[in-house]
Amino acid sequence: TVATSTDRRSSMSNEQELLCIFGTGDLGRSLGQRLLQTGYRVVYGSRRPHSCGPLPERAQVMSHAAAAQSANLVFICIHRENYDFLETLAPELKGKVLVDVSNNVEKNLYPEANAEYLQRLIPGAHVVKAFNTLSAWALQNGPSDANRQVYLCGNNAEAKQAVSVVATKLGFTVLDRGSVSAAKELEDFPLQLFPEWRLPLRLAVGLTAFFFFYLLIRDIISVYIKEKKDISFRIMVSLANKVFPIVSLIMLSLCYLPGVIAAFLQLYRGTKYKRFPDWLDRWMLCRKQLGLLALGFAFLHVLYTLIIPIRYYVRFRLSAITVRENRTPEFDTTMAWRTDSYYSVGILGFGLYLLLGITSLPSVSNALSWREFSFIQSKLGHVTLFFCTFHTYLYGWDKFLRASSYKWYTPPGYMLCLVLPSVVLVLKLLLLLPCVDRSLTRIRQGWERTNPD
Ligand code: HEM
Repeated sequence: TVATSTDRRSSMSNEQELLCIFGTGDLGRSLGQRLLQTGYRVVYGSRRPHSCGPLPERAQVMSHAAAAQSANLVFICIHRENYDFLETLAPELKGKVLVDVSNNVEKNLYPEANAEYLQRLIPGAHVVKAFNTLSAWALQNGPSDANRQVYLCGNNAEAKQAVSVVATKLGFTVLDRGSVSAAKELEDFPLQLFPEWRLPLRLAVGLTAFFFFYLLIRDIISVYIKEKKDISFRIMVSLANKVFPIVSLIMLSLCYLPGVIAAFLQLYRGTKYKRFPDWLDRWMLCRKQLGLLALGFAFLHVLYTLIIPIRYYVRFRLSAITVRENRTPEFDTTMAWRTDSYYSVGILGFGLYLLLGITSLPSVSNALSWREFSFIQSKLGHVTLFFCTFHTYLYGWDKFLRASSYKWYTPPGYMLCLVLPSVVLVLKLLLLLPCVDRSLTRIRQGWERTNPD
């Protein structure tokens, strides 16, 4: 059994439990300071107890062996490369709980996790991997200003419980990830850099680059070649205000395409119990990030649209027309309908887009039931896609049928970007047909089509 059990019981009545920290670096010092603030006593184990630099006030310093003997819970705040010497302390560490807080500088540097290595070095101790996903900063400032979660894993339930008690007292939320074999995964956590954002970001950069060059050649370079006219100033606002909404609309439709593909796959297979292909799984898992990036692009489009009336180029053209024609142009009701309609539908689309973005934030989505969340993200999501697509169709109006729209036999960007959302909407409509919807609902309720073989 773990030697801490009696101490823990006594610590309930007496807050002054003694905890040991090996290592006097940044992490060791920050951890010690927080532990002292929370009411624990702290003893540091150091190779040079008399010259180990500044440590928190009220903390004691001793040799490793003496410090290990005086406490039952030992935080190992030293680098894995220096673990070897711990083997010599095996007798003093026997039966103690060792908290491995270490991380590596890159993935797969060692064949086994640091915590597993530590357990192998001191088999008589109970190693618990914990706190490694927190920075020294988070430890020092406490959970109010940083990540709240402490992941832990280890083979001994009592040892994990002892560490959980400390983490909870420090104000963190504990998430138990199982046995010490999960340590490798925990050690990889801090090395990840926004993993679920990687694919959506790459896609956003790729689409932006593609449409930027496509429109640059088609709308600006072509004019220079044909008419020797330099309109490169349009890159800054006109071109940007085409690329951003185009990318936004494509990415929004990419949020809803995997759901539609999954539904057709379930209909085709006649069951919901078969796994989706990996690529579809990965795609579904990054829909939230795709949507948030798409919202960012739509927001840029709205901001660029707001500045259209104050642009020098626009004001100049307006006054030039007035001077040239020297009369009030005739009011075109169709034009008024067209522009008002696409502004209005665009605004409605953007409003719903914002709602989708807000409800995908964890603090908001946690307050919704699953039914409410899926209603907003699925039903309202498709309505948003419909509004944004309709806005773009209205913007195109009769230009789809005019030959002059297809400069150099290429369609304008907004026509290209309409392909994907239109496909998604048509497929979604097919899924809403009563007969299809009925079959899909049955499959999703667990019904399976039995194959003749
Ligand atoms: C084009 C307004 C929201 C997608 C336009 C244009 C305007 C406009 C004025 C024409 C720009 C130009 O002449 O170059 C608005 C307003 C919105 C809004 C006022 C809401 C407040 C959206 C949203 C989307 C979107 C949410 C969806 C992603 C598009 C697209 C074009 C466009 C694809 C065509 C771009 C091109 O190739 O010229 N919008 N829009 N708009 N808008 Fe919006």
